[in-house]
Amino acid sequence: MPERLIIAIDGPAASGKSTTARLLARQLGYAYLDTGAMYRACALQAQRKGVDLGDERAVQSLLQDLDIRIEISGETNSIFLGSEDVTAAIRAPEISALASSISALPPVRHKMVELQRKLAASGGVILDGRDIGTYVFPNADLKFFLIASAEVRANRRWLELKSKGIEADPEQVLRELIQRDKNDSARALAPLSKASDAIEVDTSQMSVAAQVATLHRQVLKRLDIPAVLLAKHSGFCFGVRRAIQLALDASQSGDKVCTLGELIHNPQIVGKLAEQGIRLCGEDVSNSKVIIRSHGASKEVLAQLLSRGNEIIDATCPYVKRAQEMVSSMAGCQVMILGDPGHPEVVGMISYGDEKTRVVQADTDFGTEVWDTLCIVCQTTQKISDLQTLVTRLLPKVKELRVFNTICRATSERQQSAQALAESSDLMVVIGGKNSANTRMLQQLCQTITHSVHIENETELTPDLLTDYARIGLVAGASTPADTILAVYNKIMKIIGNTEAATRFEEIPLFKEESC
Ligand code: DC
Repeated sequence: MPERLIIAIDGPAASGKSTTARLLARQLGYAYLDTGAMYRACALQAQRKGVDLGDERAVQSLLQDLDIRIEISGETNSIFLGSEDVTAAIRAPEISALASSISALPPVRHKMVELQRKLAASGGVILDGRDIGTYVFPNADLKFFLIASAEVRANRRWLELKSKGIEADPEQVLRELIQRDKNDSARALAPLSKASDAIEVDTSQMSVAAQVATLHRQVLKRLDIPAVLLAKHSGFCFGVRRAIQLALDASQSGDKVCTLGELIHNPQIVGKLAEQGIRLCGEDVSNSKVIIRSHGASKEVLAQLLSRGNEIIDATCPYVKRAQEMVSSMAGCQVMILGDPGHPEVVGMISYGDEKTRVVQADTDFGTEVWDTLCIVCQTTQKISDLQTLVTRLLPKVKELRVFNTICRATSERQQSAQALAESSDLMVVIGGKNSANTRMLQQLCQTITHSVHIENETELTPDLLTDYARIGLVAGASTPADTILAVYNKIMKIIGNTEAATRFEEIPLFKEESC
C-alpha cells in the first residue's frame, strides 16, 4: 500500500487547480478539498447578513455563528451553511470578489485554516487554494503551483460562467480576475505565493488531461512508482524463438534456404533474416531448403514440396501443429475453426479438415442452423472471450458441443497480463507487427479497458501520443523482439522527461500482477 500523501496545489484563479485536483484525486483514489469553497461560503454568509468587512466585531460575530460543513466524497465536495447546500450558490461572480476580500481577514483565515488542517490531517488528500504549500501545510509531501496567462484564465472563467447560463462581459471578467490576483497576492497574511519547493506548471497551452498527467507523473515519482511498466508476459514466445533458431541453423549450413511466407509476422525480424540470406521463397524453390513458418502450411503445399524433393525444415509452432492434428482427428464431425479465414495459420488448419470444416468468428450469423454434434477448434492466437461468446451462442443450437481450446499458453498468458496491466494504466502501448494476429488481439483487448495504441516500433512514438497519460503500460506480441521493446521503453522514458534509460530488456520494470 503506497504512502498516502498530502498534496498541495496553489495558484491564481482559473489556473486549472480545482479541475486538475478533482481529476487527480479520482485517479489516485484520494479525497479532494476545495479550500476556496470555504472562503466563498464565508463570503456568502457575510453577504446575506450584510456584514461590513471593515467592522472587526461584526466579522467576529459572523465567525462565531458560522456553521460551515464540508462533505467530502472522493473528488466531490458539497458545502453547507447549516443544513443548506450552498455548493452552487457560492460560485456567483459577486461571491468570488467578496471571498477574495474576506479571505484577507486574519480571524477568517485562522478559522478556515484550522478546519482545513483537521480535514486533511490523515493524508490521501489533495487541497487546492492560495496558501496550502506556504501556510496551511508547509510540510506537504508534494506541492504544485499552477499558473496561466491572465487572458487564458479570464477566458476559462468566462466560458465557465457561460456554461452556467451567466452572460458576462469578457473585459470585465479579465479586469475582475486581475484585481483578484492583486488582492490575493498583496494581503498581509498568507498571500498567494509559490512555495520554494513547489513544482511550477504553466497550464496556458495544456489540455486538462495533460495537466492531470503532468501532476500524476510527479506523484508517481514521489512515491517511487515507475511510470512505465511492461506486462509480465511480453515478446517472443517459445514457438517464435524456435522458428528463428531453426532458420538461423539452416542458413549456417551454406545451403540455399528460403521461408514459405514471412517466418513470423514482424517486419524487423524478417528484414534481419533477409540480411542473413534467409529470404521468402520465390516461384522457383528447386535446390532450396524450405522453411515452413511458425504459422504452418497447408497439407497440399507440404505434399507439393515433398513431391519436388525439397528438404523441408518444419518450423511450425508445436501448438499450431496440435491444432492441425485436432482438426484432422475430427474428420466426420462438423468442425468450426474460430479464427481469421485469411490468416496463414487458419489456411493451413482448414486443409486438415474435410468439407464439413468451416471457419467462423464469434459474431458469425448462423441463422436457423442447428446441429446434432459440433466440434470447435481455435486459431492459437484467438481471444478466450471470443471463444466464450461463440460457445454461448452455439449451445442452444446443438445437442453435443465439443470444445477444444487450442489457444496457446503464450497467447493466453500475454492476454491475461495485458489485461491486468491495462486495468491500472492510463495508456497501453501494444508493440508488434501490424500484421501480427496475436498483437492485434492484444490491442483489441486493451482498448476495451483503457486508451491503447498499437505501434510496430519506437519510430511511431511522438510526444503528443503520450502527453495526456501518466501511467503507461507496455505489452508486446509473441513475435516482437526484445530489442524493439527496449527501444520503445527508452523512447517513452525520454519523451516523458525521464533520463533513466534501460540498457537491457531485463531492466524494464515489470508489472507485478500479484500486487494489484
Ligand atoms: O479558488 P477560489 O476562486 O474558489 O477562491 C476564492 C477566493 O478565496 C480567492 O480569491 C482567495 C481565497 N482563497 C484563499 O485566500 N486561500 C485559499 N487557500 C483558497 C482561497
